[in-house]
Amino acid sequence: MEWNTILLEKEGNIALLTINRPKALNALNPEVLTELGQAVDAISADDEIFVVILKGAGEKAFVAGADITAMKDMTALEGRNFGQLGQEVFKKLEYMPKPIIAAINGFALGGGCELAMACDIRVASEKSKFGQPEVGLGITPGFAGTQRLPRLVGKGRAKELIYTADIIGAADAHRIGLVNHVVPEDQLLEFCKNMAKRIASKGQIAVRLCKSAIDQGLEMDVDKGIAYEAEVFGLCFATTDQTEGMTAFVEKRKPNFTGK
Ligand code: HXC
Repeated sequence: MEWNTILLEKEGNIALLTINRPKALNALNPEVLTELGQAVDAISADDEIFVVILKGAGEKAFVAGADITAMKDMTALEGRNFGQLGQEVFKKLEYMPKPIIAAINGFALGGGCELAMACDIRVASEKSKFGQPEVGLGITPGFAGTQRLPRLVGKGRAKELIYTADIIGAADAHRIGLVNHVVPEDQLLEFCKNMAKRIASKGQIAVRLCKSAIDQGLEMDVDKGIAYEAEVFGLCFATTDQTEGMTAFVEKRKPNFTGK
């Protein structure tokens, strides 16, 4: 499929998904959000794709936020609908069965930080900047930043970032657990591709069940989460991948997973 603001490329079993609006620092308007949702649907339906890397086009930004020009004259109802559109697309992205790594190559502000947080894993270049600048514009975060940020970095740190609208660098983002790794800019994509390849070489049913157990489990109380884990663990024993993975270990060879 072809989109105006989104690029989807494949390298083997890895998809490179790019927000492609570099002149506006990849700001999210309704068109970008709608096309991103369509791209996520296409990725979910494509059996060849095991792992996704999400990045922003250009050198300056991952995503510099929701599009301020598009929001400026919105009514309360239009604002609510715009927020809800972004929330739904980000939820679709978060809960798609395949792992998604955010490769953050510059500004990840407002809706951009919220988009990165909807990904499974975040890797930042040394020059990247993070923040929730919304209160400086007279609004709250609206693509679930008030929910995902405290879950990721803790309530106190999230409140400080959101109330002050402070912009922090990659090292601070790493220190508070907002990103998993910080790497030099020229190594960012290679680092993410290497991680994606390591994930893609494993049993994909197991990887997807791990994602589901973690994401669904965190929405339940711990006893229900543990019970859910027992179910997905049991399910693995009905797969060829489990037989192959364990047989390969015993035979001292590399497994040949088929995703069955
Ligand atoms: C619309 C944006 C934009 C945005 C940048 N641009 N961010 N357009 N919405 N969020 C545009 C600029 O207007 C400019 O267009 C071009 O991108 C380059 O940006 P500059 O400002 O010239 O670059 P620079 O001086 O390097 O500053 C970079 C920056 C700054 C610090 C990132 O652009 C900035 O502060 N952007 C806004 C960041 C922000 O507040 N994000 C949160 C938005 S609210 P022209 O045409 O002039 O070249 C949000 C809410 C989410 O995200 C929830 C919604 C429901």
